[in-house]
Amino acid sequence: MDPRVAIFISGRGSNMNALLEAEKQSRLKGRIEVIISNNPDAQGLDVAHYYHKKTYVFRHENYKSREEHEKAIIRILKKHEITHIVLAGYMRIISEVLINKYPNKIINIHPSLLPAFPGLHAQKKALDYGVRVAGCTVHLVTKDVDAGPILVQKTVPVYSNDTEETLSARILEQEHIAIVEATNLLLEGKFRIKGRRVIFEEDE
Ligand code: GAR
Repeated sequence: MDPRVAIFISGRGSNMNALLEAEKQSRLKGRIEVIISNNPDAQGLDVAHYYHKKTYVFRHENYKSREEHEKAIIRILKKHEITHIVLAGYMRIISEVLINKYPNKIINIHPSLLPAFPGLHAQKKALDYGVRVAGCTVHLVTKDVDAGPILVQKTVPVYSNDTEETLSARILEQEHIAIVEATNLLLEGKFRIKGRRVIFEEDE
C-alpha cells in the first residue's frame, strides 16, 4: 500500500503548501490524505481546501487533556488508514499516546539547527545569540521535544543587518525544500536508528 500521510498544522501552512505542491508535481512518495489543525482559524486550512484536501479541526480547548485530544485525532487517523504524520508548523507538544501509535513515523520541522534553539522563537534566539549560520531541522518525533533523530538539516548565512523577519524568511525558503526531502526519506523508510543517529541503507 502506498504511504498515506496526515499533515498537522496550526497556522499559515506554508510547509504544508510545499508538500501539497510536491504531491501535485508527482515529487512525493506517498499520498497526502488529510490535514489536521488544532486551530479553526489556521490560514493553512484554506490552502488545503484549494488543493481539495480533507481537513479536520480538533480544538484542543474542547478536550479535558492532551491525551483525550490525541485520542480523538487517532480515531480519524485510523479511519483514513494514515501511515505517516508530518508536523508542519503544528504548535502543540504531542504526547506518547500519539507517538506510540506511530513510532518513528512522525517528523517535525523546526526553524533552527537543532540542538541549538529548541522551543518557540527559534529564529529570534539565533539572531540574539549572534550565530553566523542558522537553518532548519527535520527530525523524527520522540517524547523529548525538538530532540529526535535528525533526518535533514539546511543552513543559511546570518547577515549583520538581518532582522527576525529577514532571517526567518531566508530559513523558511530552506524549510520548504527540507520538508519535502525529509518526508520522502520518511516515506521510503530506507534507514535505521542507531542511538541518536539516522543511518541510511545506502551508506552501509
Ligand atoms: C515554521 O517556521 C516551522 O519551522 C515552525 O513554525 C513555522 C510554521 O510555518 N515550527 C515551529 O516552530 C515548531 N516548533 P508554516 O505554517 O508556514 O509552515
